[in-house]
Amino acid sequence: MNRIYLDHNATTPVAPEVLEAMWPWHRDHFGNPSSVHQEGREARVRLDEAREKVAALLGARAGEVVFTSGGTESNNFALLGVALMPGQTRRRIVTTAIEHPSVLNPLRQLAPLGFDIVFLPPDADGRIDPARLESALDDSTALVSIQHANSEVGTLQDIQTFGEMARRAGALFHVDAVQTAGKLALDVEALPVDLLSVSSHKICGPKGVGALFIRRGTAPLFSPIAGGSQERKRRGGTENVAGIVGFGVAADLAVARLAAGRPEEVRALRDWFFAQIREVVPGVVRFGSAEFCLPNTLGLGFPGREGQGLLIGLDMEGIAVSTGSACSSGSGQPSPVLAALGVDLQTIESSLRFSLGWQHSREELMKVVEALSRLAGATGDRLAPSSA
Ligand SMILES: Cc1ncc(COP(=O)(O)O)c(C=O)c1O
Repeated sequence: MNRIYLDHNATTPVAPEVLEAMWPWHRDHFGNPSSVHQEGREARVRLDEAREKVAALLGARAGEVVFTSGGTESNNFALLGVALMPGQTRRRIVTTAIEHPSVLNPLRQLAPLGFDIVFLPPDADGRIDPARLESALDDSTALVSIQHANSEVGTLQDIQTFGEMARRAGALFHVDAVQTAGKLALDVEALPVDLLSVSSHKICGPKGVGALFIRRGTAPLFSPIAGGSQERKRRGGTENVAGIVGFGVAADLAVARLAAGRPEEVRALRDWFFAQIREVVPGVVRFGSAEFCLPNTLGLGFPGREGQGLLIGLDMEGIAVSTGSACSSGSGQPSPVLAALGVDLQTIESSLRFSLGWQHSREELMKVVEALSRLAGATGDRLAPSSA
């Protein structure tokens, strides 16, 4: 059975071009990029090429890109890096209640060390009101950390405005862009952003590799991974050369997709898909902002149904979706993101997240609509696809 994978916010399939480029770096080449001999120099060249490609995806300079083990490490690096940086006297960090656990948990660890962590609540669409940020900022604020897009509901934040506000308060601004990189154009050069996290496996690259953009001129951060002088002494440890080479190719492919307008095509397909679902499941609820949303994401509630049961039913029909984020669904806890949006517990428990990739056809998505009609629809056999 050909499976239909609609969980691209959890992870994406590795692109064939990425695998192709990585393979020789597992099979033939093994040099350590810190070594001065030919094997080492070859690896260094490929590392630098990949850095250029990832920088191009973000609109950064190559020297502003530090490779990490993924989005989680990039977020930890940014938060701990600023909080614990030499000479840091400011003690307040402002974030939102709907961040990924890789932001929330390092901040929770900082609280008992004397840091004052402010979690801004979102509105019912998942948007943060700039007025709330304004009132949380003061001259003790070291850092503002706000995600660009939420992985569960897709809501986008106004990082331009928030960055300007952080700057006025003399604070650094970190953006978790793990869900937006490759889905929406990013240009850190033009944005008031000091630090920005990305992850390779969300953009058809390998797992276990990511990057942190650190704007040139930012004072040296505390390094949570202290070791050798790799990554210009900002992050120790022999680099994951094959993974970084793959990440570079994935970044190249993402740049090409953005230039070709693929996100707009996915957005249109997603909207059509939602219209079809609404026809067969009339009571379906959409979470988050319809206006400010990732192009591929659809967070839905199926009142009166159980999300976990629907997920299993769909899985048995060859369709992969998730309930909330991979992380909170793994923990068995009701989604804290939906709770922060004010969604009631019963509706949270009826929720499913559909996150599209780049390759779907209407035909394929219609199979999902048919399955939803059987599993969650009012009549179970009402299916007359309307053209959109
Ligand atoms: C918004 C966001 N930030 C960070 C991460 C963590 O990235 P990684 O899986 O590369 O550690 C994720 C992963 O789901 C995410 O969605």
